[in-house]
Amino acid sequence: MTADLKFPAGFRWGVSTSAYQIEGAVAEDGRGTSTWDTFCAEPGRILNGDTGAVACDHYHRYAEDVALMRELGVDMYRFSFAWPRIQPTGSGPGNAAGLDFYDRLIDTLLGAGIRPAPTLYHWDTPQPLEDAGGWLSRDITDRFAEYAGILGARFADRVSTWITINEPMVLTLMGYSLGAHAPGKELLFDALPVAHHQLLAHGRAVQALRAAGAQEIGIASNHAPTWPASDSAEDREAAALYDNLINWLFADPVILGEYPSGMGDGMPGPVADDLAIISTPVDFFGINHYAPVSVGVATGQADTAATDGVLLPPGLPFEPRTLTGYPTTDFGWPVVPDAFGEILRTFRQRYGDKLPPLYITENGCAVNDEPVDGVVSDQRRIDYLDGYLRSLKAAIDDGIDVRGYFQWSLLDNFEWAAGYSQRFGLVHVDFETLERTPKASYHWFGDVISQSRR
Ligand code: BGC
Ligand code: BGC
Repeated sequence: MTADLKFPAGFRWGVSTSAYQIEGAVAEDGRGTSTWDTFCAEPGRILNGDTGAVACDHYHRYAEDVALMRELGVDMYRFSFAWPRIQPTGSGPGNAAGLDFYDRLIDTLLGAGIRPAPTLYHWDTPQPLEDAGGWLSRDITDRFAEYAGILGARFADRVSTWITINEPMVLTLMGYSLGAHAPGKELLFDALPVAHHQLLAHGRAVQALRAAGAQEIGIASNHAPTWPASDSAEDREAAALYDNLINWLFADPVILGEYPSGMGDGMPGPVADDLAIISTPVDFFGINHYAPVSVGVATGQADTAATDGVLLPPGLPFEPRTLTGYPTTDFGWPVVPDAFGEILRTFRQRYGDKLPPLYITENGCAVNDEPVDGVVSDQRRIDYLDGYLRSLKAAIDDGIDVRGYFQWSLLDNFEWAAGYSQRFGLVHVDFETLERTPKASYHWFGDVISQSRR
């Protein structure tokens, strides 16, 4: 099945994870409390009352996980630093034991021939910073620049590829606008400063990392083609507004140094000056992609799969709708391989010569197959990856400069508000015994990698 799925020899293959979703060990070695520890402790926030307190116990089992990656044959590993391990209160000098953990991880990766590609921030804000206003406060951009400087000084000698922030859209929408993620605020459009402050923090981190000698720096932003639910003028208008909010509010400032259609007017601070920092040149733009979204005017028929089960409040000018006619993952997300190529082509059309090289920093699906006699036959994940990789390959053949692909995720892990109910891993994790079992898709993905190198 993989025989004709072959990528250019220099294409980089990777897998992706994040700190709170896999590490566990939340109270060890001086780690401070994060907004996700706090959020998980609030009754009713997370399905089944799950928390990331143990997760995959990667903090203690990282060597086993690196061995799994080496066996898989990846070139790169995208993980995230836990900000509260590095700065338990969110400011001041680095915590030695926290830095030492990432030293061990990075050296183990390098010893296995795998290049680390860390993300500075994947949503686990130190709680003291949240208490001081979090991403609603401009002060956090000073803190983030300091944090980036600590990491750059310690690791830029061994880490060449860096990602500043993961999915600023999701923190804005799910964390501060709808309240389905930490810190659980329901500010609707008053959450927009969170977008601006993350973008400014990104720009300042690019500068701090560059000053520390980092070579390849980018962001990981999630993008989805937004399809009008019908041809009506209202649905097209609703979809265009949603498209600006979820896609271009984040990509335009980084790539063009401007906000889409007047959206900068409501942003806090000296916006023009900030945009000059936000658009500090990056070496790549990372795209996370899972599924397209259908959007129409609000009618009260919103599909909650597009918002991870959150019902949008009444009175919004748009609503995501169910996309019919496609298979769905176990999370209810539509499987539409062509939409992957579509979003990449949209990026090229929108940005032309200004588009930096791309990485796919996340792509994958929740398929919840369990082991039977020690074997996990997750054929639906293989089908998903096969379709999406073919769509990616066609876009590359069309001349779109994509340098590499990080599959989400190496391990089944803590899927935020869905707890452990959704399994995205190439490797199954039994959350009682913490035993790892590579799935059929792991072996399939390894074959795609090895035949692309031939
Ligand atoms: C996030 C991951 C998450 C994945 C699947 C992305 O939104 O960056 O943390 O697990 O998608 O939902
Ligand atoms: C395992 C199940 C186990 C459950 C406990 C899962 O990962 O596959 O067998 O009962 O974790 O949380």
